[in-house]
Amino acid sequence: MINVAILGFGNIGSGVAEVIEKNQNEIKKVLGDSLHVKYVLDIRDLPGVVRDINVIVNDPDIKVVCETMGGKEPAYTYTHLALERGISVCSSNKELVDAYGVELSAIAREHHCSYLFEASVGGGVPILRTLREACGHEKISRVAGILNGTCNYILTNMKAGKDFDSALKEAQEKGFAERNPAADVEGHDTARKIAILASLVSGKKFSYEQINCEGITNITSEDFAQAEANGMSIKLLGVYEAEGPSVNVAPYLVPKSNPLYNVNDVFNGIMIHGNQVDNLMFYGRGAGKLPTASAVVSDVIECVKNLGHNINNNFADLEPVASVKAPDKPAGQKFRVLE
Ligand code: HSE
Repeated sequence: MINVAILGFGNIGSGVAEVIEKNQNEIKKVLGDSLHVKYVLDIRDLPGVVRDINVIVNDPDIKVVCETMGGKEPAYTYTHLALERGISVCSSNKELVDAYGVELSAIAREHHCSYLFEASVGGGVPILRTLREACGHEKISRVAGILNGTCNYILTNMKAGKDFDSALKEAQEKGFAERNPAADVEGHDTARKIAILASLVSGKKFSYEQINCEGITNITSEDFAQAEANGMSIKLLGVYEAEGPSVNVAPYLVPKSNPLYNVNDVFNGIMIHGNQVDNLMFYGRGAGKLPTASAVVSDVIECVKNLGHNINNNFADLEPVASVKAPDKPAGQKFRVLE
C-alpha cells in the first residue's frame, strides 16, 4: 500500500480522494499496489483533517503529496518542504507552476523525487505528459488552445443567447471557475496555461506576466451575431508561435473549418503543430472536479512507479525567455482571426 496526502480538500482535492477510492482496482492493475489517502490537510477545521504540514512531511510513510490548494502560499512553502524530504508532489496549481515551477523542479531533481503538474493545464486532458513523452522529439512551431473551461462555457452560452453574468454563475456552481473568477474571465488563467505549454515545448521559461492578455468581458451579443454571419465563432485562445517567439491570450474568431470551432462548453481543445507529425488536436474536459482530479492521480501513479528517481518534467533547467512578442492585430478590428 502506498500512502499519499492531499493538501487542500476543496473541489479538486476531494476529487482526488474520490478517484482513488472509486478506481482502486484500476489503480492496482496499473501500479501493482493500492493507493491510500493517509492524510488530508486543509486550513478549514474539517473533521479528520490535519492542519500542520509537518505531520505529513515528517511521516516516512508518505511518498507522494497532491497539492490541490491553489495560489502561491502556503502551497509554495508546503511543496518546498515535501520535495526537500524526497516526497514527490503532484500539483493542479498553475499559478505556482508559472511562478516557481523551475525552482521546485530543480529541488525535486536534487532530492530524487518528482514535481509533476499535469492537472495545471487542460484539466483532464493529458497534454503535458504527451508533449513531454510522445512529442519530445518534435520541433513544435505552434500551440493554439482553448485553455479555460469557464470562459469557453460562458462564450458557448452567450452565443446561445444567455447573458454573461448568469453563464458565469452557472460555471461557478458547476465548480469550473477559480475562487476569484476574474482570473478566468480576464484571461490570466489562460495566460498561465499557455506560459506553461510554451515553456515545455520551447525549452525557455515563459512567464504569464510577459504575455499580452485580453479577457472576454468586452464581447457583446452583436459580436457573436457578426461572427456567426461570417461562419466563425468567438473563442478565448492562448496562442504560442515559436517564431518571434510570440504568445498571445485574447478572444479570436475561429473559422468553421478549424476543429477548435466545435470545442464548446467546459471542454478544452489544444492544437499543436510539430515539424514531423504535423497537426495534433487534444480535446477533453478542461475543468471540473473529477476530470482534473483524474489528471492529478495520473501523476501520482507516475511518481509511485518512479519512487527514488526524478522524473524529468523538462522544467528544471529552463532559462527565462529574453522577450515575448504579441502578434499584431489588424487595424480597426476587434478580434484577430485564427489562421
Ligand atoms: N478555472 C479553470 C478553468 C479551472 O475554468 O479552466 C481549470 O484550470
